[in-house]
Amino acid sequence: MSNADTTAATTAPATETETAATTAPATETETETAATTAPAAASATAVVGSADYRDSGLAFPADFVFGSATASYQIEGAATEDGRGPSIWDTFSHTPGKIWNGDTGDVADDHYHRLETDLDLMKNLGLESYRFSIAWPRIQATGTGPANPAGLDFYTRLVDGLVARGIKPIATLYHWDLPQALEDQGGWANRETAYAFAEYARIMGEALGDKIVTWTTLNEPWCSAYLGYGSGAHAPGRMNGADALAAVHHLNLAHGLAVTALKKVVTNDPAFSITLNLHVIRGDGETGPEAVRQIDGLANRVFLGPLLHGSYPEDVFEDTADVTDWAFVHDGDLELIHQPLDLLGVNYYSTTLVRIWDGVTPRANNDGHKDMGGSPWPGADRIEFLAQPGPYTEMGWNIEPAGLEELLMSLHAEFPTLPLMVTENGAAFADEVTTSVDESGATVSAVHDLERIDYLQRHFTAAHRALSRGVDLRGYQVWSLMDNFEWGYGYSKRFGIVYIDFDTQERILKDSAKWYSTLIATRSIPPLER
Ligand code: FCB
Repeated sequence: MSNADTTAATTAPATETETAATTAPATETETETAATTAPAAASATAVVGSADYRDSGLAFPADFVFGSATASYQIEGAATEDGRGPSIWDTFSHTPGKIWNGDTGDVADDHYHRLETDLDLMKNLGLESYRFSIAWPRIQATGTGPANPAGLDFYTRLVDGLVARGIKPIATLYHWDLPQALEDQGGWANRETAYAFAEYARIMGEALGDKIVTWTTLNEPWCSAYLGYGSGAHAPGRMNGADALAAVHHLNLAHGLAVTALKKVVTNDPAFSITLNLHVIRGDGETGPEAVRQIDGLANRVFLGPLLHGSYPEDVFEDTADVTDWAFVHDGDLELIHQPLDLLGVNYYSTTLVRIWDGVTPRANNDGHKDMGGSPWPGADRIEFLAQPGPYTEMGWNIEPAGLEELLMSLHAEFPTLPLMVTENGAAFADEVTTSVDESGATVSAVHDLERIDYLQRHFTAAHRALSRGVDLRGYQVWSLMDNFEWGYGYSKRFGIVYIDFDTQERILKDSAKWYSTLIATRSIPPLER
């Protein structure tokens, strides 16, 4: 989403102080929150319309779904067990130099073996939904052929365990762990992968299609295509702009084919969705708008166009003409891609600032991703990504809750009838475990992660403001339930609301988990005790 949009122009002011003035005028906030502020005790302490997005006491609608999210390769471990084949992330993480500290997902959070206790943890937190992903190579070791019963059994136990605990299962079919055998045949740059994905979707639809509440085909195809095939920061680590753009198209195609395949076999009435990491892009200076246009095309419109409008943006073809002729888009593909969506998943962490590079000074490259040599922005060598004002999370990402409100508002303006869900939002900070002794003499471990609570409070406030302004926002899945393998950064970045001791696999509730439990129980943003 870009500030070239009309909505963005009114909702994306330069500073947070201005935000309060432009996005939450006093009268509007007071009237609207009257309907949505928590009753009685909570409203006595309600903070509404704060300039820094630190509101509290705001009540969420009764059907708003509070949950948390994870992804298979990041938490499961058991990488070679029960017939699981290798994925591109196994190969990549075992390649020296690709992951910080040489970390791999071989063991991760050992969730595969701790399923029941992790399910109990979710229940104890009061989660209403759990967004997980299915490891394709657990189901089909080489990406094709019959399903592996042990793989189906694991996800059946997971889903049954969620349902038994009253937690809604939100399943993502692809959160980046492509079977290595398919990569060996060209991966997402090969059209056949999209058809293989549809067959895998059919298998999962037959296995779980009576229980899944929301099917998400792909998580962040932007990352799969551009980080996987362009920049080399993610598996499979290729660095070729033409392959990255072919991957964009084949991922879009895979989505459409998978929705069609799922619809034929599911027996309940689920929502069909996809999760995108849409970029909230601001322009700097005179060349800002042109830079925003180009990056908005590559980051956002190349997905939203085919998925929701049934066409690719012409300007993206022009911008990338030196990279590829787009001959991989076949007649009829756009009809296959353009399937009705019941829900759009939105992952949001921070904003992006761009301008046209002057070609003289060193080109700034602060796009928030690891630099492995290639570019995640095919055809955009003239653009530079500028550093943004802090504060920052441990990822170096700027904290900007206004960006979430802006994103939700601009999506709502472009697709007024499309329900939205925040499928990821959260923050990495350098957590520390402290211990104390309780009255019974037992040692108690704690993680006082005030910064993460503050981050979540501000982003829940942003989501609530979007709701108050008419956005059909259905829920919020905090990233992440537990610390995990953070891709190229290995275990060095902790996003969990539950702390994982990677030596002992002990789970420790961080203060943010307790804060989130309170939010869910009261359906209202708790005041932050400072
Ligand atoms: C998103 C990914 C998720 C996690 C968060 C921090 O891009 O979908 O797996 O890595 O970022």
